[in-house]
Amino acid sequence: MGQTWDSVIKEQLLRVNETMESSIASNQAELTEICRHILDSGGKRMRPGICILSFLASGGVDSEKAIKMAAAFELIHSATLIHDDINDDSQLRRGRMTAHRKFTVPKAIIAGDYLFVQGFRLGGTMDEAIVNSIADACNAMAEGEFIQSDHERKAGTPIDVYRKIIEGKTAMPIAAGARVGAYLADGDSYIIEALGEYGLNIGLAFQIADDILDVEGEEESTGKAPGIDIHEGKPTLPLIMAMEDEVIGSRISEIFSLRVKTDDEVQEALELIRSRDVLQRCKQYARDYAHEAKDFLVGIPDSKYRDSLIILADYVVERNL
Ligand code: IPE
Ligand code: IPE
Ligand code: MG
Ligand code: MG
Repeated sequence: MGQTWDSVIKEQLLRVNETMESSIASNQAELTEICRHILDSGGKRMRPGICILSFLASGGVDSEKAIKMAAAFELIHSATLIHDDINDDSQLRRGRMTAHRKFTVPKAIIAGDYLFVQGFRLGGTMDEAIVNSIADACNAMAEGEFIQSDHERKAGTPIDVYRKIIEGKTAMPIAAGARVGAYLADGDSYIIEALGEYGLNIGLAFQIADDILDVEGEEESTGKAPGIDIHEGKPTLPLIMAMEDEVIGSRISEIFSLRVKTDDEVQEALELIRSRDVLQRCKQYARDYAHEAKDFLVGIPDSKYRDSLIILADYVVERNL
C-alpha cells in the first residue's frame, strides 16, 4: 500500500495513546470506563497527527512535548465529541453506541468535562503562549457552536455565516494544533504562521467533507449514522446549497425547518440532495480549501513530514470515514 498521511508518525501516535491512557486514570472506575469507551474506539487521530507533523516539519527533534500537546488536543477533541453527541442526540460514534446512550447523559457530561480538564492539565505544563492557544481554540469552538445554534432550522443561512461556524468549531482548534507543533519546534515565526494557516484551511475542508458525509456517507465506514444534520436542522453547506436549488430547494427548506421530523422525511431529503449536483459543488469548495492549505506549505523545507501534510490535505477531502 502507498504512503498514508500518518505512516511516518505511527510511533509518536502510539505514545499519544499511552499519554491519554494515563491521563484518564481515576478513582471512579466508571469515569475511566466512559473515557476509554471513546478513546479506544478508533478515530483518525488527525488533531494530534497535525500537531506532531507540524513539529517535525518545522525541524523539531525531541518529540516529548509535542506528544504531550498532541494528546492534550485529542483529549479536548474527545470531550467535544461526547458533548456534541448529547447535543445532536446521536446514537452512534466511531461505530459504537454513544457515551450518553451507554452511560446516561449526566455521566457523559461529566466525563466530557473531565476529559477537557485532563487535556488542559497537559497543556497547562507548557508556557503561556501555548496555554493561550489552547484556550483560544476552545473559545472559538464554543462561539462557533453558539452561532450554529442560533441558525438551527432557519432556512437562508448565508454561506459566510456557515464559514464562520466551521472556522470556530472545527478549523481554529486544528489550526491551534498546527501552530503549537511549529512553536514547540522553535520554528521561525513565518513557519508558525504558515502552518497555522495550513491547519485553518484543512480544518475548513475537513468540516465540509464531514458535512458531505452526513448526506452520502456509509455508516459502516464513518461509524456514525447519516442524516443527523438535516434531522437537527444544522445549517451545513450541503443543506444551505440544497435549499437554494431551484428544483428541490423549497421541499428541502420545508423539511429542514420542521421542529420534529420523521425518518421518512429525513430519508426523502437525503435522496433529493443526492439527486442533484449539490455534493459535487460542496466537494469543490472543500478541494479549494485543501488547495489553499497546500499553498501555505510552499515555504516549509522539504521533508517526509511536509510530504505527509500534503497527503493529509488531499485525504481530508477524499476520505470516506
Ligand atoms: C468529528 O471529527 C468531529 C468534526 C469536527 C467533524 P473526526 O472526524 O476527526 O472524528 P474522529 O476523531 O476521527 O472520530
Ligand atoms: C462537529 O460537528 C463539531 C465539533 C467540534 C465536535 P458535527 O456535529 O458535524 O460532528 P459529527 O458529525 O457529529 O462528528
Ligand atoms: Mg454531531
Ligand atoms: Mg457532522
